[in-house]
Amino acid sequence: MSSTLSDTAPRFLADYRPADFTIKTVNLSISLDDICSQVVSVLTLVRQGDGSSALQLNGEQLTLVSLVIDNQALSKAQYELSDTLLTIPPSSLPNRANFVVTITTEINPQENTALEGLFKSGEAFCTQCEAEGFRRISYYLDRPDVMATFTTKVIADKTLYPYLLSNGNKVASGELADNKHFVTWHDPFPKPCYLFALVAGDFDILTDNFTTSSGRDVALEIFVDKGNLAKAKHAMVSLQKSMTWDEETFGLEYDLDIYMIVAVDFFNMGAMENKGLNVFNSKYVLADSQCATDSDYFNIEAVIAHEYFHNWTGNRVTCRDWFQLSLKEGLTVFRDQQFSAQMHSSAVTRIQNVRVLRSQQFAEDAGPMAHPIRPEKVLEMNNFYTLTVYEKGAEVIRMLHTLIGVDKFRQGMDLYFARFDGMAVTCDDFINAMSDASGKDLNQFKLWYSQSGTPVIKAQEYFDAKTQSYTLTLSQHSPVTTNQPAPQALHIPIKIELISEAGESSAYSELLELTQAEQSWTFTGLTAKPTIAMLCDFSAPVKLIFDQDDASLLTVMKKAENSFCRWDAGQKLLMGYIQQLTFNADYDIPNDLVMAINTMLSRDDDRAFIAEQLILPSFDEAASLMVDVNPIALTRAITRLMQTIAKGAEQQLFSCYQACNQASEANHCVANRALKNVCLTYLSHLPEYHYLVTEQYQQASNNADVSQENMTDSLAALSCSAKHNLAGLSEQLQHFEHKWQQTSLVMDKWFALSASVSSDDIFTQLKRLLLHPQFSLKNPNRARSLIGAFAMNNPKYFHCPTGQGYQFLAGQIAKLNSINPQVASRLITPLIQYKSFAPTQQKLMKAELIKLRAIAQLSNDLKEKLDAALRD
Ligand code: TRP
Ligand code: ZN
Repeated sequence: MSSTLSDTAPRFLADYRPADFTIKTVNLSISLDDICSQVVSVLTLVRQGDGSSALQLNGEQLTLVSLVIDNQALSKAQYELSDTLLTIPPSSLPNRANFVVTITTEINPQENTALEGLFKSGEAFCTQCEAEGFRRISYYLDRPDVMATFTTKVIADKTLYPYLLSNGNKVASGELADNKHFVTWHDPFPKPCYLFALVAGDFDILTDNFTTSSGRDVALEIFVDKGNLAKAKHAMVSLQKSMTWDEETFGLEYDLDIYMIVAVDFFNMGAMENKGLNVFNSKYVLADSQCATDSDYFNIEAVIAHEYFHNWTGNRVTCRDWFQLSLKEGLTVFRDQQFSAQMHSSAVTRIQNVRVLRSQQFAEDAGPMAHPIRPEKVLEMNNFYTLTVYEKGAEVIRMLHTLIGVDKFRQGMDLYFARFDGMAVTCDDFINAMSDASGKDLNQFKLWYSQSGTPVIKAQEYFDAKTQSYTLTLSQHSPVTTNQPAPQALHIPIKIELISEAGESSAYSELLELTQAEQSWTFTGLTAKPTIAMLCDFSAPVKLIFDQDDASLLTVMKKAENSFCRWDAGQKLLMGYIQQLTFNADYDIPNDLVMAINTMLSRDDDRAFIAEQLILPSFDEAASLMVDVNPIALTRAITRLMQTIAKGAEQQLFSCYQACNQASEANHCVANRALKNVCLTYLSHLPEYHYLVTEQYQQASNNADVSQENMTDSLAALSCSAKHNLAGLSEQLQHFEHKWQQTSLVMDKWFALSASVSSDDIFTQLKRLLLHPQFSLKNPNRARSLIGAFAMNNPKYFHCPTGQGYQFLAGQIAKLNSINPQVASRLITPLIQYKSFAPTQQKLMKAELIKLRAIAQLSNDLKEKLDAALRD
């Protein structure tokens, strides 16, 4: 079997065909050992075809011990083994359609630094099977459309591993010789192997319960490292809220008698929705006010919800193949966003979603790895857990929700579950259910699944005083690329608001459906030209080109009913100044802006919303709207704008800071801190306020009254210190390090801060950080907190003209290539976007990419991205 060539060949959506065999039941017996775990897998198979096809099972990094069919052991001559496949030819298979294959394999969890399959996280054993990790546990038909009923017996040392967990219900347990014990689990719901999980270790457990709307009792258990019990409370409450929300919003109840969550420190991503046994990065479970920030709290709730919601959108109804990933991810992100919006401020939640989309997803969609939310070609599936599949995927579901409305959307969901429960289906199946339930023709809408790139919408307005009519003309263009030579017009919902000159509450809103390359709408009965607020709630993931003058933007900021539009108009104003300053450092910022900000600060508005209004568009967001970006000029422009605003609004910023600091209403403390810290960030640009940074750090981190300490405030102060490399910085960093050296998740924050210091000796410091006793590339959180934070949060030095920033990143990626290809591949993101930068940076970045491509034993993860980035 010549495997090497086909292993590195991409797969295509167009080549999908059903499997030749299905698996009815899987009986696993797993004996855990650090370097040699044994897996016995008994599969009951059913042949689908005519008997002419071989049985091909996926398997990687496995040692095959024995292979038995029915009761007959196979000799080596009767099968073929490659690095990735076990092939049993038809001549070695029984003639019957049903037969039993028993496979015994051995694996080495200790050496598994890729964290796919069975690995060790600290002292515990743990698995990660999505997307294609199960093949590192045993030979299997590792594809999501093969759904089987799993029974799993876990065997391990009783003292080291008192808890042995897997999916479903515990059905047996007992003692064995040599101080070992076992637990057997049975999952009654047939599932693809990517939802399989096993955990073994010693934990503290937070237990609670939930009674479903039909009255069933569900045990809830959260497993954390010993000593961390108190930090699991927020996760538990979040889980209960999620369960209630899904019942109330979609009528969806949990289906097993037990729901377990395990928090581990070594994990490639956020969390994993394994049936009945979620495995989480501890970062999305553990929190208390001393060690977690307000956004940590928010994110924990959102990720807990996301994984819980997968039980229906992902597990009960799963994906036919991995090209359909957005079927479960886009839909589940949409669901968790709606949940967060309901738990918190819907305006602020939406703004934060849009920031991520515009700063990161737009860049991805403009870069070399651009792909439709349903990709058509994949080399390494792990490379497609992207902002496009997740976040743009969620925007596509949101557009559907906007187009058919909340009630029809619910009916569509009901129909989707009625049709497909227990099945592995496609994105088209989902859209068809929505179309059938709503009666809406969604054929053109389906193009969102096959076209990549951010559509550009151009808007033009025309007011005719004689006929008192206002005409809006919209045109759309999707980017032309090699993979997409002739993009078609998409079906785009555009929500608008017309604000009449008279102002007050005379806004009129409407949903426009743009389906042509160009379309016009005329509104009549208007005595004067109205001001338009475009793209209310960000009704479509598009770039809008619309020459709206500053005066109109200020009108939208003040008068639009849609809060997103009020925020967005402000951002557009700010973005304009950032662009001006990038091209001309001496550009004079008009006083209108400072006045508008002073008004904003003095309003008795929602403080969380004001904070969002004051936060400038990010470096990435600005970069995504420019060509040949000069990163140094852009960083300088952003700093200049911050300084100007700080100077112009100094008094208001300071009194707002104090008001927020003194505010006592406990339920608004998150909003108060958000606004306070935005004010501090501005004020820290003025030397006279540096004392305030030191003072805040002291109060929040070094307080005689420990209950007054707060991680949000500490980190905000520290990042001001780091940003301006203030005199107190090194003392603060030392204090913080000493204080938190035992708390790994907080040390991640320390590494991230240390890597974002704005100082000319940052490269010496980075070297020192790499040698820090607590640094390890084997821990993904740690690797990301040092390397990722430098590349993403320290643009001035990452892009410095000596190229040292790029060299640093590439050097670490080269090491990670063999340690953990998934982490390496995620960290390369800023480098492959080299084409959006000015020639100096482009050349330096490209040189690093070329060096990386020359690595011997380059992982498929990096290879796929490097080939795409260096093509033509
Ligand atoms: N399905 C997971 C989620 O959306 C994400 C995921 C995919 C993942 N592959 C992973 C998580 C590997 C951890 C490791 O929540
Ligand atoms: Zn998910």
